[in-house]
Amino acid sequence: MFTTEKNHQRFVEMFDPEFEFIKSLGYTNIQVYQIRKNNTFYILKCTDTKLKWESDHLDNERRILKVANHVRGITHLVQDYGFVEKYTAVLKEFAEGNELQTVISDESIKTQLENIVQQFHSLGISCVDLCRKNLIINPFKKISLIDLGAFIKNNSLNIPEYNKNYDFYSLNLLLSNKLKKEKK
Ligand SMILES: Nc1ncnc2c1ncn2[C@@H]1O[C@H](COP(=O)(O)OP(=O)(O)O)[C@@H](O)[C@H]1O
Ligand SMILES: [Mg+2]
Repeated sequence: MFTTEKNHQRFVEMFDPEFEFIKSLGYTNIQVYQIRKNNTFYILKCTDTKLKWESDHLDNERRILKVANHVRGITHLVQDYGFVEKYTAVLKEFAEGNELQTVISDESIKTQLENIVQQFHSLGISCVDLCRKNLIINPFKKISLIDLGAFIKNNSLNIPEYNKNYDFYSLNLLLSNKLKKEKK
């Protein structure tokens, strides 16, 4: 969408003139910006409303973020910008740390991940997209789930068994891959 740093800065200012562009983190047509305001980092996630799939995806994340406001272990919604000019955007908390790539085996990581999944399931939400790229670990080994774009909110609190099992499967895969990696 935009390439130069100056353009990025101009773009983020459209949502709030006090935003300072730090870096661009997205890999897709959904733009993910790390920004700073009043000495605090945030994530601005936005897309062009002309892009149907991307807008729907971001809209889904916004909906899930609102329902999951009290879930522990995620980066929460800070502000919903709705539509600004031809863009749609949300502001989220920033999680300090690294993507969950190589971490030492730790019972607390397993417990944290299980807790996050459990909280979503109790809200009638299946997680779907539990992967390393969507999980940030900080130096104190605290895990944050940062991307809720693909999550599915069911009409009732009863999640289909299949979806639940899929989440447990992803979770186990995540944990077993991690262990394999460490054995090398
Ligand atoms: N709240 C956040 N805190 C820290 N890093 C983030 C946050 N949100 C996104 N990121 C970084 O940006 C990348 C892309 O963001 P994500 O929301 O997963 O979008 P997408 O998967 O659509 O590209 C993540 O893999 C992560 O490295
Ligand atoms: Mg992601």
